[in-house]
Amino acid sequence: MIPQSFVQDLLARVDIVDVIERYLPLKKGGANYFACCPFHGEKSASFSVSPSKQFYHCFGCGAHGSAIGFLMEYSGLGFVEAVKELAGQVGLQVPDDGKQAQHQDDGHDQLLEATAAASRFYREQLKHAPVAIDYLKRRGLSGEIAARFGIGFAPDNWQALQQIFKDYQSKSLSDAGLVIDNDAGRRYDRFRNRIIFPIHDRRGRVIAFGGRVLDSGEPKYLNSPETPLFEKGRELYGLFLAQKPIRDNGFALVVEGYMDVVALAQYGVENAVATLGTATTPHHINTLLRQTDRIVFCFDGDAAGRRAAWRALENSLEALRDDSALAFLFLPAEHDPDSFVRAEGADAFRSAAKAALPLTGFLMQELIQRCPPDTPEGRARLVHEARPLITRVAAPLLRLQLVKSLAEASELSQQEIEHAFGFQSQNQPRQREERKSGRRDDFFPPSPQRNARPQGRRKPPSTSGTLLRLVLQHPNWAARLPVDLLPNDNDEGRALIAIVDLVSLGEPIPAGGLGALIERFRETPHSETFARVASEQVETEFDEAVVETLFEDTLRKLHADTVTREIAQLESRIREGGLSSDESRQLAHRLAELLMEKRNLVTAGKVSDL
Ligand code: UTP
Ligand code: MN
Repeated sequence: MIPQSFVQDLLARVDIVDVIERYLPLKKGGANYFACCPFHGEKSASFSVSPSKQFYHCFGCGAHGSAIGFLMEYSGLGFVEAVKELAGQVGLQVPDDGKQAQHQDDGHDQLLEATAAASRFYREQLKHAPVAIDYLKRRGLSGEIAARFGIGFAPDNWQALQQIFKDYQSKSLSDAGLVIDNDAGRRYDRFRNRIIFPIHDRRGRVIAFGGRVLDSGEPKYLNSPETPLFEKGRELYGLFLAQKPIRDNGFALVVEGYMDVVALAQYGVENAVATLGTATTPHHINTLLRQTDRIVFCFDGDAAGRRAAWRALENSLEALRDDSALAFLFLPAEHDPDSFVRAEGADAFRSAAKAALPLTGFLMQELIQRCPPDTPEGRARLVHEARPLITRVAAPLLRLQLVKSLAEASELSQQEIEHAFGFQSQNQPRQREERKSGRRDDFFPPSPQRNARPQGRRKPPSTSGTLLRLVLQHPNWAARLPVDLLPNDNDEGRALIAIVDLVSLGEPIPAGGLGALIERFRETPHSETFARVASEQVETEFDEAVVETLFEDTLRKLHADTVTREIAQLESRIREGGLSSDESRQLAHRLAELLMEKRNLVTAGKVSDL
């Protein structure tokens, strides 16, 4: 473990503007700096860096974090690596504190060395395996493309890897998924007599393999198991090579197979990635939406392809944004992308991708096919089936479009659908809150992105939510929080309690801005709450002129919330009855006190919502 104190020192030492400027040209605008967001494709500068908060935030895709977070996201580094990198940039030595972390790290490096060595070995073996070369040629692969993807061959030999690993019994070989230990304690190579597709992480390091049988045999593809390096639901085959083409083309293609990615690339369609024998996960979608705002899923035209497409749709609903577009391309039933591009050519493939069915269209088509709306029962069922899907869409405009389409198909009005789904009528609470808190807009870039920013569902902020935002703006105010009044029944309340705990343990409040505070709570149960509230905060910061009053008001409101809760409890206790006269005198007395307290809080003038 890297000691927290070091992380905090480091963040106090670096300036996030310098850090990001090494990677992106930044332009000053008001108090902040702006750039085109590196995490999603776009033309306008909606990526902002705040020197006072030491925090970056993209209004387009919502990416945000500290200097450390930026390095992790931008360079695909792990936390420890990012800290080391950053420390190196300012000439600090990372303390060699926990041996454990060190070991773990070494372990990781050892596994990477093993997979890299194996990958070199398999590539070398391909040169000496005419059957394998023959097979690839028959499938139309050029030598150039095979080399670009590092394709290799695992010889037909139970322990071929012994040739390159001096210690074939080493634990790292099994941990990396390269060998299998049988029940009799004998060890043998996982991949034998197979064409090898190395799987790279986003930095181009080999982390796993897929192996295809020559011609027929079961299983057709054998993949590395999940290892410390490789988590199937997070990785995409081909992403390392496709990253730049995805940005250049303005969209990512998601296909199902290794051979699809390779064949498409050979024909000049280089922006394709494949899932690894799993359904498309929300993580996949988020990864891709950081690089681009358009994803085209390409599935076989058969029933299995349609099922896979539906899974992908279900897994992407939460990740949708109003400025992103997902679409589905169904190939003719006899084709997969590999055979299609070979038969019809790259241009035919590109125009098919361009004409892909938008997600909203696919969603409605599929629902209508499942629940034909030709009877009142059918229409009711249609709405019933649509509900769990549409309510998961947080992008407000997209959701509105879906509601409208559904209204039309089910012969209901938009309001009737919204009512049936429990959607609130729009905006009222938010506008009132804006006036009340006197938010200032000075953090906004002068960009139209600002209004197109995805907002999700807005709830009026809770008392603890407002307090947490105020404390994020002024961390040292944490010392003024009344810990006994903070509610622990919601995320914001619990996060506030965690901050107060820090203070009471004598730990200094992180002074390196919002970014430092976020890092302090990385990998705690509160990290998500902090990240969420911090990015709301960056979008609409409270006006410094009213912030002190607002803090006082909110504390009073917190107090009032507690009093109101206690009054309700007392009243219900009194209603239940069965009290002795002594008890009921005491309760009545306490009730009178509370009511008085409440009245005082109200006449203090500021608590509007009692
Ligand atoms: P397909 O069966 O569609 O194969 O599997 P393919 O990609 O067209 O392969 P070729 O053209 O016959 O060589 C699609 C993907 O599903 C995973 C692999 O990732 C494969 O690329 N898969 C398939 C497995 O993991 N294991 C299998 O046994 C089969
Ligand atoms: Mn195929």
